[in-house]
Amino acid sequence: MAGKKQYIVDERLWQKMISQESFSGEVKFMEPMKAHTYLQIGGEADVFACPQDTVSLENILAALNEERIPFVTVGGGTNILVKDGGIYGVVISLKNFRRSDIAKEEKDMVMFFAESGTPLQKLVSFSKENGYSGIEGLAGIPGSVGGAIAGNAGAFGYSIKNMLVSVRMTNPDKGIYEMSASELGLEYRASKLPEDTVILSANMRLRKDVKEDVAKRINSFLKRKRETQPLSEMSAGCVFKNPEGASAGRLIDEAGCKGMRIGNAEVSRMHANFFINKGNAKASDFLKLMDEVKKKVMKVFGTELEPEIRIMGRNVN
Ligand code: EPU
Repeated sequence: MAGKKQYIVDERLWQKMISQESFSGEVKFMEPMKAHTYLQIGGEADVFACPQDTVSLENILAALNEERIPFVTVGGGTNILVKDGGIYGVVISLKNFRRSDIAKEEKDMVMFFAESGTPLQKLVSFSKENGYSGIEGLAGIPGSVGGAIAGNAGAFGYSIKNMLVSVRMTNPDKGIYEMSASELGLEYRASKLPEDTVILSANMRLRKDVKEDVAKRINSFLKRKRETQPLSEMSAGCVFKNPEGASAGRLIDEAGCKGMRIGNAEVSRMHANFFINKGNAKASDFLKLMDEVKKKVMKVFGTELEPEIRIMGRNVN
């Protein structure tokens, strides 16, 4: 956030920066982020803006750039932990960017187009209904296409990288441009997206397959997930990345952390790499729990765990 201002962006400042004609969409001020995250944790964002179209999005980005006001983009809010003090500047939600369609069909392949706010599971269902293969391992992962690309989401050896062809994005300096998937530096649960860049849409390639086979794979992955992960509880998915050659869940479990609790944040008894909000948990409790678990795993196994979830926002003063 170097060079960016850190003061509250209020309604007056917003109206001074963004004229009514230059923005269509919804804007909220002092918006509790707990309403926009799967974990249901997080203080207030100064501004929570949901642009309706690309022009409105570009206009906000240009104004924020000019005023050097920080922003973050959120998709489904599934993989983030927002601190209790909320977020400086502007949170841009891409929930209105959810068009998806087949862009091109070839003999064995189909090219998909999806805007970044499209729910990942909408694509999984579409692939299941039509017998398109390549996306099966993403079954049951909540969140949006944009978020899945930013974190290279995946499971069961699949990741979104495997089917991604190109991504259209916008940045206040360059405007709208496209990058091929290989230029995004997608690695295990990570990407190297240029700073202040917002993903607009993606093109993905899937292979035509036997419908029943695709459905069978999707159903079996969903079954395994339901049996091993606490899907019905408030979590942000796996908290830590798997260290090379090991499972963070297994290490946390074997270090004796299952059921460990700070305030209302608890290490799941079902899968130890999921931390659960048992009700009104504070981000500070969740972070303390992460710290305690990290220390225990370090003590028992000498392994340093690295967060997979994206932590953002300010501490309470
Ligand atoms: N295990 C335990 N105790 C636990 C959890 C797991 O002993 O509490 C053991 C399991 O019994 C198994 C091994 O650890 O033998 C691996 O567990 P699992 O198959 O659940 O996979 P994982 O490595 O813990 C990874 C991904 C998940 C993804 C699953 C399925 C990461 C950090 N986790 O988990 O992704 O769903 O594989 O492919 O990469 C996520 O990214 O948010 C996420 C949940």
